[in-house]
Amino acid sequence: MTARRPSLLEKMKDFREMKRRGEKITSLTAYDYPTARLLDESGIDIILVGDSVGMVVLGYEDTTQVTLDEMLHHTRAVARGVKNALVVGDMPIHTFDTPVEAVATAKQFVEAGAPAVKLEGGQSHVAHIEAITQAGIPCMAHIGMLPQQVRKEGGYKVKGRTQSEAEALLADARAVEQAGAFSVVLEIVMAKIAEQITNAIGIPTIGIGSGEDCDGQILVTHDLIGLFPWFTPKFVSPEARVAEEIRKAARAFIERTRAAGLGRGD
Ligand code: KIV
Repeated sequence: MTARRPSLLEKMKDFREMKRRGEKITSLTAYDYPTARLLDESGIDIILVGDSVGMVVLGYEDTTQVTLDEMLHHTRAVARGVKNALVVGDMPIHTFDTPVEAVATAKQFVEAGAPAVKLEGGQSHVAHIEAITQAGIPCMAHIGMLPQQVRKEGGYKVKGRTQSEAEALLADARAVEQAGAFSVVLEIVMAKIAEQITNAIGIPTIGIGSGEDCDGQILVTHDLIGLFPWFTPKFVSPEARVAEEIRKAARAFIERTRAAGLGRGD
């Protein structure tokens, strides 16, 4: 007999239970069918179709150029490859400017196969998170360094260095929990502050470059497997060098193809 798959509500409850038990939640990004299927078969808890696709797949300078159509296209591919993990669709910039727009966008992600969504924002986005969760769609919040604001911020800067920044982050985390978010990503937050936030709220914190004490960890898969060798964030320890393997295979193919043609030209 095959085991019954947990419902969406049960999955959400599981994440809170995992936090309570001190069991770490694992999350990686995917943008295509084979990667999603491989991650799912490996037992990952959450697959994020991140708007990081813009940088590591589409060749944009940052995530601010990513469109909703692009995100939905990649979400459909990922959804086809996933049986167990929770697929979360990342709402791109300017697709959730108002709560009404946020719900409309979230519904498109659900139709594309991501039953949950993520948005960047804390206290500023309480009404948006409330509207999404009231529409029955689980919402992951994202605070700390917000890549969609990188141009305004002038770079990817560590958050929580000053007392006022740390207090604002804590207020953000409390606000998104209160608004109904099922979890919150903490991006490049000082490890001590990330730990304080993790201890202060009931929903799981999912850290990226924010120390070991978050309830879970997320990484861009291309960083983890060394598939985007032109830039690796400082906090990432790659587990593989896939870019090197691709170069090696391509060079071997080029050599064997050219070798087969030698001497046939005259
Ligand atoms: O777009 C993305 O991949 C993300 C994660 C890095 C959290 O937002």
